[in-house]
Amino acid sequence: MTPIIKANELTKTFGSYIAVNHLTFEVREGEVLGLLGPNGAGKTTTIRMLACLISPSEGSAIVAGNKIGENPLVVRQTVGILTETPSLYERLTALENMDFFAKAYNLLDDHKRSERIKELLIFFSLWERRNDKVVTFSKGMKQKLAIARALVHKPPILLLDEPTAGLDPESSKEVRDLMKTLSQQEKYTILLCTHHLKDAEKLCNRVMIINKGKSVITGTLDELRNKINGQIIIQVALKKINSKMVEAAKKVDGVKRVDVDKPASMLKILVNDAELTTPLIVKNIVDSKGLVLSVNVLRPSLEEVYLKLIKEDSK
Ligand SMILES: Nc1ncnc2c1ncn2[C@@H]1O[C@H](COP(=O)(O)OP(=O)(O)OP(=O)(O)O)[C@@H](O)[C@H]1O
Ligand SMILES: [Mg+2]
Repeated sequence: MTPIIKANELTKTFGSYIAVNHLTFEVREGEVLGLLGPNGAGKTTTIRMLACLISPSEGSAIVAGNKIGENPLVVRQTVGILTETPSLYERLTALENMDFFAKAYNLLDDHKRSERIKELLIFFSLWERRNDKVVTFSKGMKQKLAIARALVHKPPILLLDEPTAGLDPESSKEVRDLMKTLSQQEKYTILLCTHHLKDAEKLCNRVMIINKGKSVITGTLDELRNKINGQIIIQVALKKINSKMVEAAKKVDGVKRVDVDKPASMLKILVNDAELTTPLIVKNIVDSKGLVLSVNVLRPSLEEVYLKLIKEDSK
């Protein structure tokens, strides 16, 4: 996949404080990249630079083919940004808010503008409430309206700063599902800052973890697991277990250990790479006359991986 954002040594200082410290990374076209890190790590500052809301102190970035700093107005047309505190006009209705921001993005044709706004309000299930003032909206509804607003000019890139912060589980799920649809069906490229590691686990193709302004690691979840030597356990439930089956599992390349859980009638097999080893393990066990009832792969969660990597980085 080609990169749609390329940041090179991106740096931001506030006085003598280095908030973002020589960050180099790519966001690939069509992917959801999670930007994770503790409070104050520099996530918001990074996306503010990419959206040309603030300028970098050093380094550069190319966003959808345009260098930030050189042509901020063009860059802003290519990104939709949801900030930590979405600024909506509370005294205006949903429709009036959308109309205001659409005009600010130069959508001047009345028919096209109202069609686009209708399409978005329907997508975000806000059409019925279009004539209500935003002040009467719940937090989740405001958040959905703020995302709709970020999409009004059809930018290929969405920069979302904690879109589910402060939402109840139901609204969080709704926003998460909408992000999934935007990514998978509408083909947006999304850079997602979040503290909700379960959201990141469900949505992101890759994640980048930053700490104190510096990059700790970037990769797919499996790449991160390998980095911390995260244990992957394949649980194979069998009708009956005998020593031949245990030996058969041990024989597979990449198997580090086989434990027998007699009461559960289960083999617990420690491996580095589940995709490579699972089919071979199952084949060997079946060949040794094992009757396989179920196979389950247990992987460390993103939360475990994240906490370990941040702890190591902070040493
Ligand atoms: N305008 C500013 N002036 C001075 N310092 C700032 C400014 N904006 C951000 N900072 C500092 O830069 C650092 C990074 O802040 P940033 O908001 O990017 O962190 P973050 O990763 O988004 O954190 P959080 O998870 O809490 O939202 C913090 O120490 C913050 O105090
Ligand atoms: Mg932030």
